[in-house]
Amino acid sequence: MTAEAAFGGAGSPAGPIPIVLDVDTGVDDACAVLLAARHPGLDLRAVTCVAGNAAVDQVVTNTLTVLDVAGRGDVPVARGVDRPLLEPARPARHVHGEDGMGDLEPAGWVTSTRSADPRHAVDLLRDVLLAAAEAGERVTLVPLAPMTNIALLLRTHPQVARGLERIVFMGGAALVGNATAAAEFNVWHDPESAAIVLDAAAGLGVPVTMYGLDVFYAPRVSRSRAADLMAAPSAVARLAGALIDFQCRRFAEDDATIGDAGAVCAVLDPGGLTTRRLPVRIELAGTWTRGQTVVDQRETGLDHAHDPHGLAPAVIDVALAVDGDRYARTWLATVGATPDAQPDEGSTARRSER
Ligand code: RIB
Ligand code: CA
Repeated sequence: MTAEAAFGGAGSPAGPIPIVLDVDTGVDDACAVLLAARHPGLDLRAVTCVAGNAAVDQVVTNTLTVLDVAGRGDVPVARGVDRPLLEPARPARHVHGEDGMGDLEPAGWVTSTRSADPRHAVDLLRDVLLAAAEAGERVTLVPLAPMTNIALLLRTHPQVARGLERIVFMGGAALVGNATAAAEFNVWHDPESAAIVLDAAAGLGVPVTMYGLDVFYAPRVSRSRAADLMAAPSAVARLAGALIDFQCRRFAEDDATIGDAGAVCAVLDPGGLTTRRLPVRIELAGTWTRGQTVVDQRETGLDHAHDPHGLAPAVIDVALAVDGDRYARTWLATVGATPDAQPDEGSTARRSER
């Protein structure tokens, strides 16, 4: 089944799609925030922050900086939980650099001086989703990080389901992990929260799409294209190029994934994704498999009466294939477009004169 059939009407014919991101910015989260902030088909309502790639306060600073560059100082950013429900925080500096965003400050990017929204991330998410429900709208929630904020939101304020169109989360894998042989980083970082989100969404009737590692690495941008972006007049293009270039240098490759930005593309353009509705569980007890998304691809219709576990109650749309070039083109067309003059376009994070 293509995602278009699975997604149903994601709102695009009715105008820009309302979305909220939950991030651990993060080089590829930054790619996603740029896309969500600049694409005319999306209505970015808020960005909430959680510990993951970096400590949560660094995530807040990084996220505010990216939104400044995108000229979107109007988008509220809130600080969320500073560690997983049970596990300790385990930042991924080896992937994202010391500051979590490709060590861009030494490269001349000025960090934001804006303050975050005074509300906790869970409260901002609650307020945004309930306001949408009151207005007869439904928001697509896009978790791109460990799902600690989302688990607390759904268990504390289940009524927000009224304002939810769908949850499209970057996380998990049907086949191979990255943090461990079995587990993907976001789910591995906080497996309890991932399990709670799947259980709560199933109970609340909120559709879920899993944008996992099976598709995550496919939308890629070349180092040479990144160099073109870094030479562009727009701060958005220069930052986008720097994020790709950092990954190419860090991993000694000629191209790099747009990562989390692919999950935002899946909201914009579900036709680029091939999904199957499959039962999914989170492994919480395994020694070598803790944090694995156990995606049950057994043929449906067969009798699984012998299976003591039965089918997982959470049946979600699992992305198994993606048109990577299509999503990479969407990202490039958005971040590479010469922006219209914005009042605060890149004002606080314009590349400093060196
Ligand atoms: O496994 C990839 C995920 O972990 C991405 O969201 C990346 O930003 C990190 O959070
Ligand atoms: Ca992330």
